[in-house]
Amino acid sequence: LSVREATVFDLLNMQQTNLWCLPENYNLKYYFYHVLSWPQLLQVAEDHKGKVVGYVLAKMEEEDTPPHGHITSLSVLRTHRKCGLATKLMTASHNRMTESFDAHHVALHVRKSNRAAFHLYSQTLDYEIRDVERGYYADGEDAYDMRKVFVSTK
Ligand code: ACO
Repeated sequence: LSVREATVFDLLNMQQTNLWCLPENYNLKYYFYHVLSWPQLLQVAEDHKGKVVGYVLAKMEEEDTPPHGHITSLSVLRTHRKCGLATKLMTASHNRMTESFDAHHVALHVRKSNRAAFHLYSQTLDYEIRDVERGYYADGEDAYDMRKVFVSTK
């Protein structure tokens, strides 16, 4: 199992993985928009046969000050969970955000009931809850608005 930067040829597999794992789905145009704008930030995990088993889709909010990253979507196939892949995908994307785009922090939304993802963000990756967005999701569930501030190495 390894993690590498995604290319345009991975987008269909990333979209398929997303369809299997999450109710929040995106059209292919939105994946292209990410990879054409911030190619460094999209990462995939693949098995020994080169099959995509996880991805992170991320972008920069460059108009805002300070510039910061945003995690649009993350998932790992059920068969490959709890092996540290999500942690590796997220860490790779975070590193590219600071190296390539001088990001001050990274933000994301997560369902209040999503224990696995909440554990990953709050315990493993040191994100903090900034706010609760009531009824953020299409089915009415609330979201935690979470943020991780990057420690400057300059
Ligand atoms: N319950 C509790 N803790 C868990 C669970 C779980 N079900 N799954 C993982 N964790 C913990 C791990 O023990 C680990 O903790 P540690 O660092 O203290 O040892 C930590 O979370 C990270 O584990 P990883 O192995 O890196 O995570 P994994 O590769 O299993 O992927 C993910 C986690 C992405 C949440 C996966 O469960 C998944 O794809 N879920 C469905 C899709 C999803 O919910 N995506 C996130 C939506 S939010 C967004 O996209 C911005």
